[in-house]
Amino acid sequence: MRREHPTTVARPLEQDAANSTAAVAHPNIALIKYWGKRDERLILPWTDSLSMTLDVFPTTTRVRLDPEAAQDEVTLNGEPAAGEVARRITAFLQLVREMAGLDRRAVVDTRNTVPTGAGLASSASGFAALAVAAAAAYGIDLDATALSRLARRGSGSASRSVFGGFAVWHAGPEGATAAQGDLGSYAEPVSAAGIDPALVIAVVNAGPKAVSSREAMRRTVDTSPLYRPWAASSKDDLADMRAALGRGDLEAVGEIAERNALGMHATMLAARPAVRYLSPATVAVLDSVLQLRRDGVAAYATMDAGPNVKVLCRRADARRVAEAVRGAVPDGTVLVAGPGPGARLLNEDRC
Ligand code: PMV
Repeated sequence: MRREHPTTVARPLEQDAANSTAAVAHPNIALIKYWGKRDERLILPWTDSLSMTLDVFPTTTRVRLDPEAAQDEVTLNGEPAAGEVARRITAFLQLVREMAGLDRRAVVDTRNTVPTGAGLASSASGFAALAVAAAAAYGIDLDATALSRLARRGSGSASRSVFGGFAVWHAGPEGATAAQGDLGSYAEPVSAAGIDPALVIAVVNAGPKAVSSREAMRRTVDTSPLYRPWAASSKDDLADMRAALGRGDLEAVGEIAERNALGMHATMLAARPAVRYLSPATVAVLDSVLQLRRDGVAAYATMDAGPNVKVLCRRADARRVAEAVRGAVPDGTVLVAGPGPGARLLNEDRC
C-alpha cells in the first residue's frame, strides 16, 4: 500500500450561493468481487477487490446547502427519495457534516442513468458522485484516497468508482482498531498494460433485486460454509489478476474474473437460506459465453447481486460477443461499455 497523504483540510465556506456543487461518477464492475463485510458500520470488507470503471451509465449528483432547511431533502431521478435510500443518503451527509464541522442541511438531486438496485452498480456511481459533490459543497478538501474512503462509507463498491479504469480496493488491516481499519481501506488505480477491453452488458432484468446486497452479504458471511474458502481463494485470484493485468493477458484476466464471480455466487447459494440472483436468462448468457470460447473468441462472464451478466472481451470482438449474447436473450438489452473516467466535479456548477 502506498503512503498516506494528509487527508481532510477544511477551508472556510464561501457565501451560500457558492455552495452548490455537482459531480459525475460512473459505475464499476468488479473482476475480483467484494462480498462480505468485517465491519458493517465502517463498511470494511473481508477481502480486497478489483474493478473496471465503465464509460456508460453515469450518475450526476447536485448538492446545495440550505441554511433554512431543518432536514436534508433528497431527490432521486426526479422523485423525492424515501425509505432506505433516503436514510442511507442522510446518514452519509451526516458523516460529511461531522468531517466539515458544519450543521447545515443539504438539498441533494441525484440522477442515475442505470436502473437503481438491479445489480448494475448504481450505488457505486451514486455514492462516488455524492462523495465528490458533498465534500465540495461542505468545503472539505479531500484527495482521491480520502474521497475513496469517504465514498466507501456510502457503499463499499463506490470506493472504486472514484478512479477511472482499473482500481483495487484494499480491505485494510484486519484486527486493527476501527480507525486504522478505516484509514487503510481505500481504492487506488491499477495500471493495465496493453489491453483494450470491453464489457458487453446483458440486462436481462432491470427490476430491483429481491434481496439487497447488504443483507445477502451478511447472510453469506454468517451462514455459508463456502464463504471462508472463497475469501481465501480470492486473495490468490487478486494476485493472479494483478499479474495478468500487468502483462496485458486478457484471457487470464477473464478466466480469473469468471472463476471469482462464480465462486462468489456459490457462496450465496450455500447460504442458509440460499441467496440466488442468477436466473434462467443468466444461464442462457453463460452458455453463449461458453460457445463463444469454443468458437475461439476470448469472452468471460461476471455477475453481481442480480441476474445481469457482463462479458469481458477484447474491444475488437465486442460486436461479435454482443450479437451472440443478444441471440441468447432476445428480450434483454445488450450494450457495450469500455473503461471510463473517475468521479469528478462539474466545474460549471461551482457558481
Ligand atoms: O457496494 P455494494 O454494497 O453495492 O456491493 C456490491 C457487491 C458486488 O457488486 C456484488 C461486488 C462488487 O465488488 O462490486
